[in-house]
Amino acid sequence: MRVLFVCLGNICRSPMAEGLFIHKTKMLKEKFYIDSAGTSGYHVGAKADARMRKTAETKGVELPSRSRQLVIKDLEDFDYVVAMDKQNYQDILTLKTKHSTAKVVLIRDFDPTPDDGNVPDPYYGGTEGFEKVFEILDRSCDSFLEHILNEKK
Ligand code: 4NP
Repeated sequence: MRVLFVCLGNICRSPMAEGLFIHKTKMLKEKFYIDSAGTSGYHVGAKADARMRKTAETKGVELPSRSRQLVIKDLEDFDYVVAMDKQNYQDILTLKTKHSTAKVVLIRDFDPTPDDGNVPDPYYGGTEGFEKVFEILDRSCDSFLEHILNEKK
């Protein structure tokens, strides 16, 4: 199962989702290939934002990602492409071709309390925004993983 998490810059939300998902699937390591990407190329090559890494570290989660931009081929190579917000979702769909096979989904569609459907972008805000992103993604990734595992049965 190949899962790609996508946000705008690929330095805050999608690296957090990727790190959490790696953490949650540790026992199923050989069954999963997990990655993340950004719809923009603003931060290509960069590690996850230091504030996001700090939040992750306090929760015992590692963020190994380096920012890269989403490409058309990702929609052929991954089983799931998982958008962090509705804008990302729309931007991902613009890369769809007749060869695309990935299921494109919105992460908060799996959140028991989905709010407005977006994982709020923490980049220009304070520390509490990063904490909030962690909490949203922690519970959303749990139920997304449950969904995938049920689907495979
Ligand atoms: P992300 O956050 O999409 O969660 O990685 C952002 C990071 C950088 C920018 C915007 C959002 N930026 O405009 O540089």
